[in-house]
Amino acid sequence: MDIKGKTAIITGGSRGIGRAVSLLLAEKGANVAIIYNSHKSDAESVKKMAVEKGVEARIYRCDVSNFEQVENTINKIVSDFGSIHIVVNNAGILIKEPFLETKEETWDKTIDVNLKGVFNVCRFSVPFLLKNPPAKIVNVSSIAGRNGGTVGVPYAASKAGIIGITAALASQFTSKGIYVNAVAPGPVDTDLFMGLSNEQRKALESLSPNGRFAKPEEIAHLIVCLIENDYISGETVNINAGRYIN
Ligand SMILES: NC(=O)c1ccc[n+]([C@@H]2O[C@H](COP(=O)([O-])OP(=O)(O)OC[C@H]3O[C@@H](n4cnc5c(N)ncnc54)[C@H](OP(=O)(O)O)[C@@H]3O)[C@@H](O)[C@H]2O)c1
Repeated sequence: MDIKGKTAIITGGSRGIGRAVSLLLAEKGANVAIIYNSHKSDAESVKKMAVEKGVEARIYRCDVSNFEQVENTINKIVSDFGSIHIVVNNAGILIKEPFLETKEETWDKTIDVNLKGVFNVCRFSVPFLLKNPPAKIVNVSSIAGRNGGTVGVPYAASKAGIIGITAALASQFTSKGIYVNAVAPGPVDTDLFMGLSNEQRKALESLSPNGRFAKPEEIAHLIVCLIENDYISGETVNINAGRYIN
């Protein structure tokens, strides 16, 4: 699929991986609808950089865990841009708590944002994507959804659930022209790991066969490859420098 001239929704487009995806899609000529939650100035700066690349870019405040807000936001995006062709479900949170100290609200919040958020955005964007085949959805899972990871049970459960959503949507909608895939990154150098001590960071880096975190741009590159490809659907692609292979 040629990305030029298409419209993409990127959840969590204000920072980290979502920021890199928004900018790479804009670089390739896509118009971008950047969904953020709390960091408006970061979203505005991504929008400004995207506009400088010659595309249309708008920002939308929306909590992806809120069914009604997502419905209204997707409708507004379609009304602003005319149509949508690409959805990148990237918004996510990580609350670090040892399992035996995990609070009920940590479980609820993590599942609500990371898993229900993907459901909500797909639920309301698929009707519009069906009008524009081939359309593309890429969901951001994690190595934690595959091997459990090191960062917490609710997070791993939410990311494993995304793999299920990806497969279920692909089996229902690929024949109707929506290709649905996911990526499962190992640790990436973003704010998600803010607060790690030097020692904790070194320990995580040492788990990686190449000894480092991924850059957000490296994950964005894979996401854009999946969007451009018109034959892959239903896959969750590992991107972890060979740390976990299946
Ligand atoms: N970093 C890693 O090591 C890593 C590894 C594997 C997978 N991932 C996954 O990659 C995705 C992006 O993570 P990141 O590392 O780029 O994190 P990040 O830098 O912390 O960015 C998270 C993004 O998600 C948005 N967001 C959070 N809660 C939201 C909500 N309720 N509604 C809408 N947007 C919300 C944030 O928006 P605001 O800034 O406006 O609040 C922000 O743009 C996540 O799904 C994460 O689980 C990350």
